[in-house]
Amino acid sequence: MRIDGSVALVTGANRGLGQVFARELVGRGAARVYGAARHPDAVTEPGVIPVALDITDVDRVAQVAQQCVDVSLLVNNAGVLKYSTFISTPSLDAARAEMEVNYFGTLSMCRGFAPVLAANGGGAIVNILSVTSFYTNLIDASYGASKAAEWSLTNGVRLELHHQGTLVVAVHASFIDTEMAALTNAPKDSPESVARLAFDAVEAGQVEVLADERTRTIKAQLSRDQELIYPPLQKFWDDAPKGGS
Ligand SMILES: NC(=O)c1ccc[n+]([C@@H]2O[C@H](COP(=O)([O-])OP(=O)(O)OC[C@H]3O[C@@H](n4cnc5c(N)ncnc54)[C@H](OP(=O)(O)O)[C@@H]3O)[C@@H](O)[C@H]2O)c1
Repeated sequence: MRIDGSVALVTGANRGLGQVFARELVGRGAARVYGAARHPDAVTEPGVIPVALDITDVDRVAQVAQQCVDVSLLVNNAGVLKYSTFISTPSLDAARAEMEVNYFGTLSMCRGFAPVLAANGGGAIVNILSVTSFYTNLIDASYGASKAAEWSLTNGVRLELHHQGTLVVAVHASFIDTEMAALTNAPKDSPESVARLAFDAVEAGQVEVLADERTRTIKAQLSRDQELIYPPLQKFWDDAPKGGS
């Protein structure tokens, strides 16, 4: 589909990657760009229409879908990362919060906007996933589980909406240079490069974006993950200094 002349809605448009997505859409000639955010006053990107939306609020998602009936491109960008492990983290709170936003919130948006997209000729959904959709690390283990669930829903939504002509694009990336990845010094993609790749994919009708070398390598290794991905990770965590002694 063409971005030029489309009507887009971006979740989490107040900062980070979402703000850059909104900017790129305006730059590519989208006729209207809705910038959804929990605090709409924080949506300051020129040319973007602020919309109040917490994606975990199912009733509000339904209201926004009724309000923004002209949307033909939905960008599910909003997400949270709590840096929690499965076992040593004191409670399930972080894991539940990540699943609530990354999985249930995104699912709720897809459900709310599927009829809107159908009414506007099919359109497209872009879901912002992660390299951690493909494998589990320890430092962000429960986040990885939520992104794996979000990957699964992306593949399922594509199957389910094919009949109405909706393109469903999965965007996987390693670290991106936003507040979410501020704790690490590892190499990072620029949000601008991820936004360009995502919308090039929409325009080309491509269903998957692997935004960087690390993401492409991990995806290519998936069929041999117990040989290629997990043994080096196990060694890393076995050798890591342990707290408390
Ligand atoms: N940064 C990375 O390294 C990286 C790598 C791969 C994938 N991703 C994915 O990229 C997406 C964007 O992340 P980012 O890097 O831009 O992170 P970020 O700077 O932390 O921004 C996260 C955005 O999500 C919004 N958000 C969180 N919970 C929400 C909710 N319940 N309802 C509506 N909006 C909510 C935040 O709004 P508030 O300002 O209100 O909190 C903020 O706008 C996420 O899906 C993330 O998982 C990031």
